[in-house]
Amino acid sequence: MMNSLTNGRYRLADKVVWRVGYGAMQLAGEGVFGPPRDRDEAIAVLRAAVDAGVDHIDTAQYYGPAVVNELIREALSPYPGGLALISKVGARRDEFGAVLPYDDPDELRAGIEDNLATLGIEQLTAVNLRVLDKAVPDQRFVDQLGALVTARDEGLIAGIGISNVTHRQLLTALEVTDIVCVQNAYNLTHPSTDPVLNECTARGIAFVPFCPLGWPKKARDAIRTNSVVTGIAARRDAAPAQVALAWLLAIAVNVLLIPGTSNRGHLAENLAAGSVSLQDDEVVSLSKAFGEPLNVDDHDAHKSRRLNGALHPPAQPDGDRSQK
Ligand SMILES: NC(=O)c1ccc[n+]([C@@H]2O[C@H](COP(=O)([O-])OP(=O)(O)OC[C@H]3O[C@@H](n4cnc5c(N)ncnc54)[C@H](OP(=O)(O)O)[C@@H]3O)[C@@H](O)[C@H]2O)c1
Repeated sequence: MMNSLTNGRYRLADKVVWRVGYGAMQLAGEGVFGPPRDRDEAIAVLRAAVDAGVDHIDTAQYYGPAVVNELIREALSPYPGGLALISKVGARRDEFGAVLPYDDPDELRAGIEDNLATLGIEQLTAVNLRVLDKAVPDQRFVDQLGALVTARDEGLIAGIGISNVTHRQLLTALEVTDIVCVQNAYNLTHPSTDPVLNECTARGIAFVPFCPLGWPKKARDAIRTNSVVTGIAARRDAAPAQVALAWLLAIAVNVLLIPGTSNRGHLAENLAAGSVSLQDDEVVSLSKAFGEPLNVDDHDAHKSRRLNGALHPPAQPDGDRSQK
């Protein structure tokens, strides 16, 4: 695949990566549980991503569990130099697929070690502490970060990230240690002013939106069919998904993308989003296209949230709105 990554580079822990990367969560089976529907295609997607120049892959031990990390290892090991492998800790799956907290300090440490073992590496570029709620940060949060600081001091991880956090949690984390990336849900269906994103931009911290194409499916469909999105897509001969990704690249220089897909067609489309360069007025109209958070709090979304609490955001993230 041709290298289609044209939208600049940004620091991520001890590396500098292309702003468009790849999120590997979609490679596991239904509900991010069990083996992939198409194992050959999953391996091909990973190899095509790296062939295209992707140097930032997001994963987690609890995708599968272990399934996605093992696919990454099979497809890409020995890993190319410069590849940033980013994971997250804080949850686990039981044998029935339930998502359970796994976030006591010793469990976080075990989670890091499990990631290293299944990926077959000695150091991860960064590990995100995946926060499960919007609670006011307390001593437990500080102790959780302490487990990651110890892992970094011992060389198991090069950098520490946090995920699914409020502005207050970010500020507390920054009092404890350096933070190299923040991974929060963010896409067109969320308002574009966000204190977490702004804080990261001001401090030069990579902001990595998860579910950049929208979640749940109702939100993704709303983006795909929105008239502002489709109008810009038509004018630029681009796909709606590319416009949604290009908007994220346009709103701040520190945004790094990890769109997820299980097929090479969508991969190529997503990687090419970096070459869709939006005009300022297009960015503004896209930012206004979903002025209020999309109401996706229907029965299906609620059901999926219960099942996938640690895998997906609440349908209307994030607790920070109350602080604006
Ligand atoms: N920190 C966290 O808590 C957290 C939570 C969730 C996800 N993540 C990470 O963030 C990454 C991205 O999030 P995500 O995968 O949930 O959501 P996403 O990237 O917003 O969207 C993925 C969905 O969109 C579809 N899709 C992908 N490219 C498309 C295209 N060009 N056109 C139409 N549909 C397309 C995919 O289906 P196909 O497979 O058919 O393409 C899949 O259903 C994940 O892979 C994971 O690494 C982190």
